[in-house]
Amino acid sequence: MSVESVSEWLHSFSSEASKFQSLKKRYKTSKAVTVSIASGKGGVGKTSVSVKLAKELASLGHKVLLLDCDFNLSNTSIKLNIPLSDNFFDLISARKTFEECIVRMGNLDILPSANGNLDLFNEGLQMYEIMVDIIYGHEKDYDYILLDSPAGISKDSVNLNAYCDHRLLIVTPDRSSITDAYSLMKVLSKSYGINENHLLVNMVNNQGQYLRVIKTLSETAENFLNSRTNIIGGIKKYDCSTDSFDKFFIQMENSAAHKDFSKLTKKFTEKICGRSVNGVSSHQLVDNRGVELEVH
Ligand SMILES: Nc1ncnc2c1ncn2[C@@H]1O[C@H](COP(=O)(O)OP(=O)(O)O)[C@@H](O)[C@H]1O
Ligand SMILES: [Mg+2]
Repeated sequence: MSVESVSEWLHSFSSEASKFQSLKKRYKTSKAVTVSIASGKGGVGKTSVSVKLAKELASLGHKVLLLDCDFNLSNTSIKLNIPLSDNFFDLISARKTFEECIVRMGNLDILPSANGNLDLFNEGLQMYEIMVDIIYGHEKDYDYILLDSPAGISKDSVNLNAYCDHRLLIVTPDRSSITDAYSLMKVLSKSYGINENHLLVNMVNNQGQYLRVIKTLSETAENFLNSRTNIIGGIKKYDCSTDSFDKFFIQMENSAAHKDFSKLTKKFTEKICGRSVNGVSSHQLVDNRGVELEVH
């Protein structure tokens, strides 16, 4: 389906919610499991987690596509040392093909976005429609399609979160991060009827702090939105500079941080697929609000 026909079809629906219910129904022949890595607040670790999760799933033999949805502030390239380019704009303006624009790293394909591209900024494009079209066109080629979501609750970010099969919400212990994540959950629940999300707490200082965050967010979501929050775990706050964090967290393997993240990946994929990442089925029961409380 072309970008034009997706747009026409979307515009035949009146409300955002009905658009996406219908869109999901129509598109639900997918092979790939779609996951948005989202937050509300910026700087909480979405891109770090997206890239690490994508690499981890790919290293386990899954075919993965990582879509950078921070459309004009792309960071995936920077974290993966991929040269910046205008490929994303060339793709959406039909100057280049998808295959010409993705960066291949083994089983992982990455579609970086743009960085301050004035054409993209000026066009007033409906980015979520374009991304849905990209997902639809390629979902049969992948096991997982991961979306590194933009911060905020813009139309693009909310619609893409609503479209995905699963949402992995990244929060930090800051009150503003928790509040913004709740706002995103609220909009998804009230406008789209989406009442299940997964939660990963990043930059955790200690176990008590982690427990407070998951309790606050999961109980508030349950009480006020009737929304279920699946707790995936926590990542501790590492005491290092931005660049050295990116290097050791994303690029290094065989480190303790890497092993801890592998456990989170396993738990998350078991939650969303009902099986472990290496294909062995799991009957492990995980309490929604923290039987497995350790911070990985
Ligand atoms: N667990 C952590 N410990 C220490 N620093 C972190 C951690 N997670 C993320 N960071 C820092 O925060 C920065 C922002 O992370 P990033 O993934 O770009 O966030 P977002 O995509 O949500 O804006 C990273 O470059 C890194 O320096
Ligand atoms: Mg980011």
